[in-house]
Amino acid sequence: MNPVRIAVFPVAGLGTRCLPATKAIPKEMLPVVDKPLIQYAAEEVIAAGITTLVFITGRSKRAIEDHFDLCPELESELAAKNKTDVLKQLRDITPKGINFVYIRQPAPLGLGHAVLCAEPVVGKEPFAVILPDDLIDAQTPVTKQLLDVAAANGGSVLGVEDVAPQDTNKYGIVDTGGSSLGTARVLDMVEKPHPDKAPSTLAVVGRYVLSGDIFDHLRDLGKGAGGEIQLTDGITSMIKNQGRVFSHRFEGKRYDCGSKAGLFEATVDLGRKYHGL
Ligand code: UTP
Repeated sequence: MNPVRIAVFPVAGLGTRCLPATKAIPKEMLPVVDKPLIQYAAEEVIAAGITTLVFITGRSKRAIEDHFDLCPELESELAAKNKTDVLKQLRDITPKGINFVYIRQPAPLGLGHAVLCAEPVVGKEPFAVILPDDLIDAQTPVTKQLLDVAAANGGSVLGVEDVAPQDTNKYGIVDTGGSSLGTARVLDMVEKPHPDKAPSTLAVVGRYVLSGDIFDHLRDLGKGAGGEIQLTDGITSMIKNQGRVFSHRFEGKRYDCGSKAGLFEATVDLGRKYHGL
């Protein structure tokens, strides 16, 4: 597999679970301690060696573009006041040599459709997909963990973790034929199965490395679970057409920051661990 250069951040969803906080602010701009979720996600992929960040945005998401834009007035003001620490923190948001690309998803038709919107930039290359509301605190950035697995095995890799049996209807669930290995071949995948129908309790949680072939499988997809064009259905089609897809149980603690409980827990844990609060 080629070295992966591009990460795609689908950020065009409506974020209804965090209303009213997300009425005028994108969910991805909600802060955990002192940084918005989208910045944790950007730092994770940059630490993994990725150099082009593609954001699939939608209506009312302009704050994300503003966050990664330069702000000369603010920088001069901080420099004049000798606030060098804050100035460095601001400049570090957009490191040199990193490209930021923004693509509008015309309507929130689903995660699969959002990923398909990245095709004109990604082309045929393998790429990472990051859902920024899954914040994962890990010693080795999870994107790096998945890239290493992709480099060793070829094909696509899905970050997975075990969830409670009653929660399978909230996730894409993989069928690994009962394998309990850290990295396993995925035989099938189901979006949000009822606990009685779930092939396992291994859930895909917001980190993917995908082969460029995925676009061929997303292009003609109809609506799936929840009336949305699902990434899971594209991955399933890829598997059925001989695509090599692996699941990998990553190391790290995940916080579902698209929910109030997850956002609260992340704030408390990271505040204590990294900020001495
Ligand atoms: P979610 O299922 O978390 O949806 O989407 P959501 O709309 O953001 O949040 P809730 O459930 O209403 O609170 C998973 C990811 O896919 C993106 C979202 O922005 C999120 O990162 N997404 C979803 C899109 O970019 N476009 C879509 O059409 C749907």
